[in-house]
Amino acid sequence: MWAGRFAKALDSMADDFNSSIRFDCKMYKRDIMGSIAHAKMLAKQGIISYGDCESITEGLASILDDIQSGALEIDMSCEDIHMFVEAELTKRIGDAGKRLHTARSRNDQVALDIRMYLREETDKITELLRALVADIADKAEENKAVILPGYTHLQRAQPITFGHHLMAYSMMLLRDISRIRDAQARMNYSPIGSCALAGTTYDTDRQFEADELGFSGVMQNSIDGVSDRDFCVELMSAISIIMMHLSRFSEEIILWSSWEFKFVELDDAYTTGSSIMPQKKNSDMAELVRGKTGRVYGNLLGLLTTLKGLPLAYNKDMQEDKEAIFDSVETVQMCLEIFAPMIRTMKVKAENMYRAAQEGFINATDLADYLTKKGMPFRAAYKVVGQLVAECIDKKCVLDDLPIEAYRLHSELFEQDLYHEISLETCVSKRISEGGTCVSSVEKQIAYVREELKK
Ligand code: ARG
Repeated sequence: MWAGRFAKALDSMADDFNSSIRFDCKMYKRDIMGSIAHAKMLAKQGIISYGDCESITEGLASILDDIQSGALEIDMSCEDIHMFVEAELTKRIGDAGKRLHTARSRNDQVALDIRMYLREETDKITELLRALVADIADKAEENKAVILPGYTHLQRAQPITFGHHLMAYSMMLLRDISRIRDAQARMNYSPIGSCALAGTTYDTDRQFEADELGFSGVMQNSIDGVSDRDFCVELMSAISIIMMHLSRFSEEIILWSSWEFKFVELDDAYTTGSSIMPQKKNSDMAELVRGKTGRVYGNLLGLLTTLKGLPLAYNKDMQEDKEAIFDSVETVQMCLEIFAPMIRTMKVKAENMYRAAQEGFINATDLADYLTKKGMPFRAAYKVVGQLVAECIDKKCVLDDLPIEAYRLHSELFEQDLYHEISLETCVSKRISEGGTCVSSVEKQIAYVREELKK
């Protein structure tokens, strides 16, 4: 390609080292679409003839067809996909093919292709997120009245409904959808026509190309156009946050599936056995999602590190962006794909959840509130209940089992109605504050999420 300046060919090991085609071949369709738009712009501006434009667009369309049908194999000895497409085009249509690269550079092309690739792939991520949010809301609806302990510090804290707990994940994933949309909006500007870095002496129409390719506008600075990878970093960080959410959810599913909890049972289709221990049923899918989160974070950190010392404008270091971003995109898609059916088919063990909620004094806050509502200052009530809990631990019983006489030794404010007030059902049904755990609040949250999903 650079015959003229160079007297000899690249060393073959250096050639392999330099080449990116084994991973950027993924972008062949976007590269071809970008080139078709470029040829049209060149013709419209009188930079190439309409005749050449027609041969170029037809040639490019036939290359696309042939790659898609398998008739044309991408030549892995080319340096990258941009060079392969151009070389193949020239092979097919002759001299007109050599005119395509007027007023553009590969630096523009690669920046354009990644943006186009990510634009489509992020739509897929959003769709998968939406499906998962909807599935979680359905699961929450089925379990809106199922009581289990809510935890802080992984210590039983207060009774909650399982629907409420699940809806927390719906809310997180809903924010993820909006984060992806934000990233998409900033990503959707066209770098094509930056022409390596400085712009060009040709009378190009960058807006026309941007419109042809469905961009919101053109990048306003050509140096930024070719050297910006913020959109990759931003998307990878949004993906990292999605993975963090899936990983926390996975961690809970793994814990809940253990014999120690037995709150849920994953479907056989989403678990594996052990090669030696016949009794085992392992939550491998959830563990893998948790594990892959580390790798997705690594991709983000890797690219940030690659970019941090780069002078403007394009540097070859930037070729390292693609494997990382492709891997993060594909990994999050796979994780979301597997997560939805895993949640849909997960069996909820309501009896075990309820049993766990009966232990651990998770109604202690409600008992303190009972005294407070009868006039005792909260701190004093807190202390009384603390003493009662200690008494129960001593007697190996729970607050619900202590006789009224034992209560009245601590305070005259205790009456028979306390037992009703500290029942798990009351604790849950009285938590009516906005966003709280009671059934009607969970229903409201589900309705909110379903409404958001319609947008
Ligand atoms: N393969 C390169 C990349 O992925 C394309 C741009 C190369 N530009 C250049 N001047 N070497 O970044």
